[in-house]
Amino acid sequence: MAKEKSIYTCTECGGTSAKWLGQCPHCEVWNTLVESVAEAPSKNRYSSGNNGNARGLIASQPVATLSEIEASDVDRQSTGIDELDRVLGGGIVAGGVVLIGGDPGIGKSTLLLQALDSLSRSMKTLYVTGEESGAQVALRSRRLGLGSSQVRVMAEIQLEKISATLDHEQPAVCVIDSIQTMYSDQLSSAPGSVAQVRECAAQLTRIAKRTGITIILVGHVTKEGALAGPRVLEHIVDTVLYFEGDTHSSFRLVRAIKNRFGAVNEIGVFAMTEKGLKGVANPSAIFLSTHGDPVAGSCVLVTLEGTRPLLVEIQALVDSGGPSPRRLSEGIERDRLAMMLAVLHRHAGVSASDQDVFVNAVGGVRISEPAADLAVMLAIQSSLRGKALPRGFIAFGEVGLAGEVRPAPRGQERLKEAAKLGFSVAIVPKANAPKGAAKAIEGLTIHAVERIEQAIDLVRGL
Ligand code: TYD
Ligand code: MG
Repeated sequence: MAKEKSIYTCTECGGTSAKWLGQCPHCEVWNTLVESVAEAPSKNRYSSGNNGNARGLIASQPVATLSEIEASDVDRQSTGIDELDRVLGGGIVAGGVVLIGGDPGIGKSTLLLQALDSLSRSMKTLYVTGEESGAQVALRSRRLGLGSSQVRVMAEIQLEKISATLDHEQPAVCVIDSIQTMYSDQLSSAPGSVAQVRECAAQLTRIAKRTGITIILVGHVTKEGALAGPRVLEHIVDTVLYFEGDTHSSFRLVRAIKNRFGAVNEIGVFAMTEKGLKGVANPSAIFLSTHGDPVAGSCVLVTLEGTRPLLVEIQALVDSGGPSPRRLSEGIERDRLAMMLAVLHRHAGVSASDQDVFVNAVGGVRISEPAADLAVMLAIQSSLRGKALPRGFIAFGEVGLAGEVRPAPRGQERLKEAAKLGFSVAIVPKANAPKGAAKAIEGLTIHAVERIEQAIDLVRGL
């Protein structure tokens, strides 16, 4: 295929230039020109049909009324891995494009090989590897106990060859591992650059839509999360899943960030074993660390991830800091932490202004819901005071800037799960406390609070 001409487009103003320049000639911003394929006006590579070439002769296209369009529910094919199906919204969809992102070594290739093996029993599957050789993939499959796997494997990084192979092999599902190693002949920039990643993903997406092949793209994310990769693809694909979790612990979470075919608030929970990733069907207690006796600076939070409550231990360490004390957090947003410290100081008189504050959600789980506030603040206060919260203690609730404690969604469910796991004392927002003795939860003493200072007073007396 003849090499198409490249142009350089500014990511700020959209201006173009025939050659790469450090500064955009249009808006004069530096380092914004990105290589892309120049589109020949006569032959648009995006159009599929040939409806009138000459200008002015293009026929009007039919337009449908929404209510008259038949809305058939999409057919899903289970991947054979329950926790993966859960985040996908029930399984894979023909023609759907899924992006799976995550840190290197977290288990993306492992999970997808397991899923493909299970799918290969009922359909044709293709695993395109750009990072490992066929032999390495085979070695991994033996280690996973998939010795007699029917998955077809191709080691290739050139997009045009992959595209031709897809047309020839016609698999139902294809995994591209990873999108950062792929390159298109049309661009001269290196594999992994924004231009290549975007172009390859866009072309693969068109192939998926045209042929009905389900394409799963693997993308690496760096710690900064900003690299040329997954982030620039989120709007192109149908479903975006991210792996979370600490590579040092054996648990992995897969979270749906976007899903055109299902709900996005689900997570899948896996444990990494020597035989690959195994789903954890009942994950509520896996993020608790095991202390013999309660320790200062630790508070258990009942969070709700998707449809399942999850108990997560929040740890805080408050220690005398230097002239500019540090605030570090793992799993909790740092800005949110700064806000909580301000609220603690202003409304509850708990000051950590000259202290280093470290906060960690155990197990590498990322907590995004504001209902974590109360547990984080109680952990900080407990560390500051050097006094442990009582044995079997849990808390949840959002804390506002005015010091009010706001209810969390589905409080009853959270409390019931905590009681089931043997927790005995809870501090919760007033609206979440069971009303009347009839609704009380057996084994759990519940203290309802309306303000943060009430909660702090309460734990001082417990
Ligand atoms: P991998 O799937 O290669 O990660 P990614 O594709 O996201 O970069 O998984 C890598 C880690 O998982 C690796 O450190 C080894 C470990 N692992 C197991 O613990 N058990 C297994 O059965 C396999 C295949 C890998
Ligand atoms: Mg890999």
